[in-house]
Amino acid sequence: MYAFKITGGRPLNGTVPIKGAKNAILPLMAAALLTDEPVILHNISYLSDVITMSGLLASLGASVTHTPDTLVIQANQITTTTAAYEYVSKMRASFWVLGPLLARFGETRVSLPGGCAIGARPVDLYIKALETMGANITIENGYVHARGPLHAADVFFPKISVGATHNTIMAAVLTPGTTIIHNPALEPEVIDLITLLQKMGADIRGIGTKTLTITGVSKLHGAIHTVVPDRIETATFAVAAAVTKGNIMMTGARLDLLEAVADTLRPSGIILTQTDQGLRVDATHAVLKSIPITTAEYPGFPTDAQSLLTTLLSLADGKALVTEHIFENRFMHVPELVRMGARIQAAGNQSVLITGVPELSGAIVTASDLRGGVGLVLAALAARGESIVQRIYHIDRGYDHLEDKLIALGANIERIPY
Ligand code: EPZ
Repeated sequence: MYAFKITGGRPLNGTVPIKGAKNAILPLMAAALLTDEPVILHNISYLSDVITMSGLLASLGASVTHTPDTLVIQANQITTTTAAYEYVSKMRASFWVLGPLLARFGETRVSLPGGCAIGARPVDLYIKALETMGANITIENGYVHARGPLHAADVFFPKISVGATHNTIMAAVLTPGTTIIHNPALEPEVIDLITLLQKMGADIRGIGTKTLTITGVSKLHGAIHTVVPDRIETATFAVAAAVTKGNIMMTGARLDLLEAVADTLRPSGIILTQTDQGLRVDATHAVLKSIPITTAEYPGFPTDAQSLLTTLLSLADGKALVTEHIFENRFMHVPELVRMGARIQAAGNQSVLITGVPELSGAIVTASDLRGGVGLVLAALAARGESIVQRIYHIDRGYDHLEDKLIALGANIERIPY
């Protein structure tokens, strides 16, 4: 196993490229199963989750090839419609092959998912939606066994789910008739999936609204698509600039995808400027201010950025309440931050109260999920002295060699066997 050894206290300055969003690449890859023609995705970053998804698609018989920036997937010789435990247990997004495989082949068996341990994360919404569309679904030996044929239906989500929205859209695009999805997720990654599907010939209306109307087509074709930039990676470097009082240009990044996070940075005197090249975050004259945060579905404050801001607020002037509304168990980084000198106390079930301190100190800490782990890296970059962040395989799931990008910005960070 590997760990990051980080000596904090250096301002991060320079330029860093922001690539396609992990949480868009994964559903876009699943969508390639809907056609026998090639789907070409540009702006790819080879995170370990993308490698896991490539392995899953290859295990189904799809051809997956890549160059440094581009992934080409062709699902013209699918040999099995069973998505094995070996892949789906590692990563929840692999479960999203359920909808496309069922819609195109009429039957599929997909292992029940794993993924970051940040809450119960059931799949009831996925199953209910497909059942409403006529699927016969049973759970056997740890697998969801789904059989068609599907028919058009009115699908209502009582709770907003990114993954269930992706999955239902992918099922509906090849299902005869007009399916209406009420209360879909509106995350930029959902919009990116719809954009790719439209390029593939899907008939989807109401993009970006609370009602999607999808008229099934008999066949989809190949397409070329550039993946939307990663707003959570963008938030990560923005907070890295903030907590080290640095100035970072993020090429390819988009401020319009990040407004809820930007609103929590601006009161601290952090200047965010969109240019043709990307987004600049200038925190050289920042004085970090406490500001309450409540996570919510897009366009609200993203749960994936909560741990990043928890680190920032640990160093801010004043007290702030942070409330997690999406997942039940997304404060696992907090006890580790406390070990670095943060003053954070539980405030009820889903909230913590953070009292800012002037400085954190280096410590040995352990990542227990992807974003929480990155929150600890940010704390270590700001802290006095040396930190070791263990279990960085969680971080590698969503960041492509994070240390290389941080080193290029002047950080003292090293990947070490641990
Ligand atoms: C996606 O997960 C993202 N993952 C998560 O990012 C992100 O935190 C989450 O959306 C919310 O924005 C990917 O895109 C790969 P949900 P997903 O279904 O789709 C409940 C990261 O760090 N729910 O929108 O799994 C669920 O338990 C990851 O990059 C049900 O109750 O999230 C949660 O409380 C972590 N039943 C809420 O909905 C269901 O059937 C939202 O989850 C499905 C979900």
